[in-house]
Amino acid sequence: EILIIDFGSQYTQLIARRVRELNVYCEIHPFNKIPEITENIKGIILSGSPSSVMEEGSPTLDLNQFRGKLPLLGVCFGAQLLAKEFGGLVEKSDSREYGRAHLNSLVPNDKLLKGIPAKSQVWMSHGDTITRLPEGAILTASTESVRNAAYTFEGEETYCIQFHPEVTHSTDGKKMLENFVVDICGCDQSYTPESFVESTVAELKAQLGQDKVVMGLSGGVDSSVAALLIHKAIGENLYCIFVDNGLLRKNEFEQVLESYKGLGLNVKGVDAKDRFYAALKGLTDPEAKRKAIGKTFIDVFDDEAHLIQDVKWLGQGTIYPDIIESVSVKGPSVTIKSHHNVGGLPDYMKLKVVEPLKLLFKDGVRQVGRSMGMPDHLINRHPFPGPGLGIRILGDITPEKVAILQNVDHIFIQGLKDKGLYDSIWQAGAILLPVQSVGVMGDERTYENVVALRAVTSVDGMTADWAHLPYEFLGEVSNQIINKVKGVNRVVYDISSKPPATIEWE
Ligand code: XMP
Repeated sequence: EILIIDFGSQYTQLIARRVRELNVYCEIHPFNKIPEITENIKGIILSGSPSSVMEEGSPTLDLNQFRGKLPLLGVCFGAQLLAKEFGGLVEKSDSREYGRAHLNSLVPNDKLLKGIPAKSQVWMSHGDTITRLPEGAILTASTESVRNAAYTFEGEETYCIQFHPEVTHSTDGKKMLENFVVDICGCDQSYTPESFVESTVAELKAQLGQDKVVMGLSGGVDSSVAALLIHKAIGENLYCIFVDNGLLRKNEFEQVLESYKGLGLNVKGVDAKDRFYAALKGLTDPEAKRKAIGKTFIDVFDDEAHLIQDVKWLGQGTIYPDIIESVSVKGPSVTIKSHHNVGGLPDYMKLKVVEPLKLLFKDGVRQVGRSMGMPDHLINRHPFPGPGLGIRILGDITPEKVAILQNVDHIFIQGLKDKGLYDSIWQAGAILLPVQSVGVMGDERTYENVVALRAVTSVDGMTADWAHLPYEFLGEVSNQIINKVKGVNRVVYDISSKPPATIEWE
């Protein structure tokens, strides 16, 4: 496997994804918490960073522990750190070196750049630049404006590049990473979804033995795939709980329960709608609503879990981006929304946690799900927030409002599916606004609710753009909603991006 040492770059996760796409296993660890270097580690990649190697207190580590012993690839900050530590010079660049550049003078027999055509486009993103190479270094490529774009050291497998091979704008970046992990480090490309399932199921069997596991399912892809893996390992000893919080999409509870049963899971559907509505009564503040929903979920889950004798473990669908310790260089971030996810259970339950997906990215989770025969409609589902429609009904929540919003949402989502638009969108839904407006229906004046439709494109939910849906489609959906859903006489479409807006309205 490959060890990726993180210095806090926004692109570190992307390096890991690219390496995994080559069917090579890798892990990210922060620079100040490096694991023991075992024989399994075949090479190390040093990531970029928002810091400058020249700043007092910028991230660093003792590179002598690896250099010359293991293949090493320094990317951007990683390359600058290697330069600085071994007698080179890094200085503020006169021109900010940002964006596209082309590799001009390539050394043809360099192992890292093998097979890379001249003028290959690469992506630069740095404010510092290496002005003098370290001792013993050999220049292997330059660009128009960056002389020391790539270098290596005579007689050792250490490679340094100031551009980012992991971003798609670096046209041959993937080939360079392949050269590094396959040819230079000698990793075999045997990491596949099938091999992951096989080894994970074996590990789970050993870890869980005859113990019982309880798990809350949400209908989302992560918890579903995690449950299937655990089920493959321990069968009926996995007890799944799927709670109807009264804030799910129309017919979702019944449909998802059916799908789960079809997959052979031992799942209990719990209708707790009334408990949630009671807890939410009169609440209007978004954070107060989230907290009430989160707490009620825990209470319901706790009651159900206590009905199972001797349960020892809690299964969770945590994925890699949730656990990677990010290297924070900007200080503590402010809470914008307190995301509640299935599973934030209190300590008194004293359950050990089992998280079979904690080393996968979302696309990896989907591949694993597919390889276990999970149907597409479960795998390709849009993300849906834990508090569900509770944060899409602005203001207080009543069962009547939920019913209105479920009908509106259903027309919109079904429309997207019918027109083949669903899969190109990250997430879509409707919001019930606490606003009434005047309309006219037949000869009558109406004074009814406004709903907003929201659809966004995104790769990770961190940033998003509003989806440019065809006007005709929006027109048809709007007509259907106003004609079919009693209580709604106006539809608007949200055209804000994130940032500065967010995906949800609350
Ligand atoms: P925002 O609104 O912050 O949403 O742009 C980003 C992603 O997170 C989802 N989201 C939530 N998920 N509990 C969740 O489990 C929450 O409280 C919550 N709030 C937002 C949102 O649907 C989007 O996918």
